[in-house]
Parts: sequence; structure tokens; C-alpha cells
Amino acid sequence: MGNIDPLQKINGDFKGKDILSLTQFSPKDIEKLFNVTWKMKHLASDNRPSLILQGKIASLLFYEPSSRTFGSFSSAMMRLGGSTIAIQNPQAVSSVAKGETLEDTIKTFENYCDVIIIRSSNVGDSTKAAKAAFFVPIINAGDGTGEHPTQALLDLFTIYEKFGSLNNLTGLLAGDMLNGRTVHSLIKGLSLYKNNTLYLLSPMNLKLKKDDLENFRKSGIKIIEITSEKEIPKTCHFWYWTRVQKERFTSLSEYEKVKHSFVLTPKLLEQFGNQKMVVMHPLPRVGEIKEAVDSDPRALYLTSQMKNGVFVRMALLALVLGKI
Ligand code: NCD
Repeated sequence: MGNIDPLQKINGDFKGKDILSLTQFSPKDIEKLFNVTWKMKHLASDNRPSLILQGKIASLLFYEPSSRTFGSFSSAMMRLGGSTIAIQNPQAVSSVAKGETLEDTIKTFENYCDVIIIRSSNVGDSTKAAKAAFFVPIINAGDGTGEHPTQALLDLFTIYEKFGSLNNLTGLLAGDMLNGRTVHSLIKGLSLYKNNTLYLLSPMNLKLKKDDLENFRKSGIKIIEITSEKEIPKTCHFWYWTRVQKERFTSLSEYEKVKHSFVLTPKLLEQFGNQKMVVMHPLPRVGEIKEAVDSDPRALYLTSQMKNGVFVRMALLALVLGKI
């Protein structure tokens, strides 16, 4: 917000900061967030009423469809006694439909609230919004094929909760590495830690961009690209499955060709998994994880991973609004 560099580092102090990318975080910042997240988890799990954000209002401007991010941010505000101005599809129901720019929309809503949470279909829109805002912080809830930092934070929390560390991990990311913003943020997050190895399983045309791959490798994380399930090592701590991002394709037939390249089945888990690992997915899934996997105790995508979305967002909102 304001004239400050929107991508400025958190540096121990979340208050008033825009949350746009995982590159703003250090392991210490994430530890601080997680410490508050534990508190939020207890508060929410006990159904204890909280007034930490009483009087605070968040605007949710979602230019793209959303269930979990929208629902959990709304829930997080309400669980802390705050409220929301929730606009899904502003291009249909707000003055955006009359041609108002993103910048003017932001400059409008910041007069009505204390924080703006934005999802859009263009990379960099949240940064644009952060530059336009004079006095409220912006949270990126997904900018096209760019980043989805709050999803990565809840993913990291879920992994941390299970393994007690974010160092020395081996993980498999499967699906759409090119267009999946959740994987982009998750790789950035895991790059902040030591000795992590990621196997990326995707169709040839959905691999990471070369530049991104090089930059990630430079940041110290070991990345191994694979094209067949047979190459999945038995030693993974987590499998992170993702959907092929249909809306990013210009040709439907190209999407149809690759949409189910890799489908997670109980058999695949048995062949290449292990007993200690966890299975995650940011959701929605559209056929790439068979329902038969859902009841496996290692599958967290319908349970704790999703619940953690509320707790992490409660913590983030309380910190960004300077209330904890
Ligand atoms: C993801 C997203 O929107 O990027 N969903 C989410 O926020 N949990 C993943 C996806 O849409 O595939």
C-alpha cells in the first residue's frame, strides 16, 4: 500500500504489509505466522468466540471463481469478530462492468475496509492493486498463473504439522507445473529452507518455464523433473497433486489430451508411496485423484489441509491488521 515497495520483506513485522508472494517471507516470518496459527487453531476448534478483529472489515474482490479461498477468508474474518464486503465476480456486479479500472476499484474499496483480498486472472494484478492502494494492505488470493501465497502458507503449515520441520524433505508435485499458481508459491516457500528435494511430475507441455526452473534451482532447492509415475521415489514425505488448469488453455482439445495424464489411485499409492507420507491437493480436483483415495488416512486434502486454510488465514489477518 502507499508508495512503499509492495514486495517488501515481512522482516518480522506483518502489520500493514501487502502479502503478494512467498519471496517476502523468511523462515522466521513463517515461524511467527505458525505460532499464531496454533493459537487460532485452538480458538477455532474450541468454538471460542473472539473479538480480535471486531470492527475490522475485509473486502474480498474475486474476479475468478473460488470456493476454499473465498470461504476460508470469510470464515477467518468472522471467527475473529470481523466482517466482510464479499464480491464474487466484480466484472459482472460492480462498476468494473461499466469499465472501471482495477486501480480505481481498489481506490474505492479501500475507503470501505481495512484490508483487500483480491483474486484475478492476470499475473501481477495483486501487485498493481498494492501500488494503487493508498492506505490498506492487499492480500493476493491468486493472480492468474502467478502465485497463491496464502495457499502455500497453509500447505507449508500442513506439512510442518505432520513432520515438525520444513527442512530435509522430499516431495512430489504432480499435475500442471506451468500454470499452477499454488505450486509456484509452494516451491518458493520450500526454497526458503534447507536440503529440500522436489520431484515435478507433469506432461511435457506443462513443465515449469525454463527461467522459473533456473531461478528456483539457484535459490538452493533441488528440483528433478520426471515424466512417468515410475520415476517417483519411494521416500517422499508428501505428494502434492494438482489439477490441469483448464482455464489457461487456448484450445479445449489440447486440454482434453493432457487433463488426466496422471491420476492418483490407491494402486499408485501402494506402488510408490510409503506409510509415513501425506497426500495433499489444493482442490478443486476434477478426476485426478480417485475418490477411493479419500478414506486413506494419509489423504489430508479433504480434512486438515482444508481446515488449516482457515487457521492460517485467521493468523495472517490478525498479524497484517496489527491485532496480535
Ligand atoms: C487453487 C487456485 O485457485 O489456484 N485453488 C485454491 O485456491 N485452493 C487451485 C486450482 O484452482 O486448481
